[in-house]
Amino acid sequence: MDLLGKVSVDVRISSEDVRAGLERDVRAGFTTSPKTLPPVWFYDDRGSELFDRITRLPEYYLTRCERFLIEGHAHDVASMARAEVLVELGAGTCDKTQVILDALLSAGDLRRYVPLDVSEGTLRGAVAELAKRYPDLEIAGLVADFQRGLAVLPSGGRRLVAFLGSTIGNFGSEQRHGFFGDLSACLVTGDTFLLGVDLVKDRERLVAAYSDHGGVTAEFNRNVLLVVNRELGADFDPSLFEHRALFNEAEQCIEMRLRATADHVVAIRSLGMEIHFDAGEELLTETSAKFTVGGISAELSDAGISVDAVWESPGAEYALVMCQL
Ligand code: SAH
Ligand code: AVI
Repeated sequence: MDLLGKVSVDVRISSEDVRAGLERDVRAGFTTSPKTLPPVWFYDDRGSELFDRITRLPEYYLTRCERFLIEGHAHDVASMARAEVLVELGAGTCDKTQVILDALLSAGDLRRYVPLDVSEGTLRGAVAELAKRYPDLEIAGLVADFQRGLAVLPSGGRRLVAFLGSTIGNFGSEQRHGFFGDLSACLVTGDTFLLGVDLVKDRERLVAAYSDHGGVTAEFNRNVLLVVNRELGADFDPSLFEHRALFNEAEQCIEMRLRATADHVVAIRSLGMEIHFDAGEELLTETSAKFTVGGISAELSDAGISVDAVWESPGAEYALVMCQL
């Protein structure tokens, strides 16, 4: 753990764990049809920077809508939560969170902020910036994988757990079920949970958010191939893959895929594997579920998490869901 005054970053996932996880996911995901890779592998330093650029794209309405809701309701969140500790899952640059931090600080109870993210460089950068802005607040960053369980969450003090950005949408329905169950088991009476979710809407608007004109999302998508190259000694040529984003009506989710433009073989040196791609074959790199307020509220209540308030952005594009245990 690094410590500087009231600021620390605790790394709970070793580079061996990261590599073993990627090896496991590549072995499993490249030997199934369709081939798949989980979205957690997007977020090396470059992937996190590309995601940050995505949040500012005109097509990517999600971040703007969520910011609008946070600005309008941060004081409601603070008075409902009365939190002493704010824990944020998948915190990234912690950008929007500052509005919540300000409201919690002015409510008077907050003493600790725990941003958790798998992307170590991004988290360290965010913590360093926050330390300048909030010199009196204890900031305890955690580098960890929230899909490997929530045992890393700090205990003690009334907690508000925030999970923003519709990152919950990147879980499949079974993973969501498991995650809400784990969360419900690890939070106690008095704790609260704030969840941001993107809502089902017009297909064109959804697809446009994942296929911007400037090609930033395409770069973000292809970046995962560079991660596999670097970590596992693979020889993917990203220029042989086209970015695709489509809305899967049956599953109510955006799917991001990489489509091979030619027959070719990719060697993955450290696994001793050769993977054949047919021209036109697609690798599924991300699903991003879109919700209804009724649907997500039912999933939460099934897990024993009761919904206290739902705030929707204009045009019912996006929702913030405030819950208590
Ligand atoms: N909350 C921010 C960032 C959303 S992007 C926002 O609303 O803008 C998703 C974030 O989750 C990234 O910072 C990524 O590094 C992190 N992330 C993705 N999968 C993760 C995992 N399994 N464990 C921990 N963090 C993860
Ligand atoms: C982080 N996550 C919720 C984003 C999303 O919208 O699914 C990641 C992303 N993928 C493409 N653009 C943004």
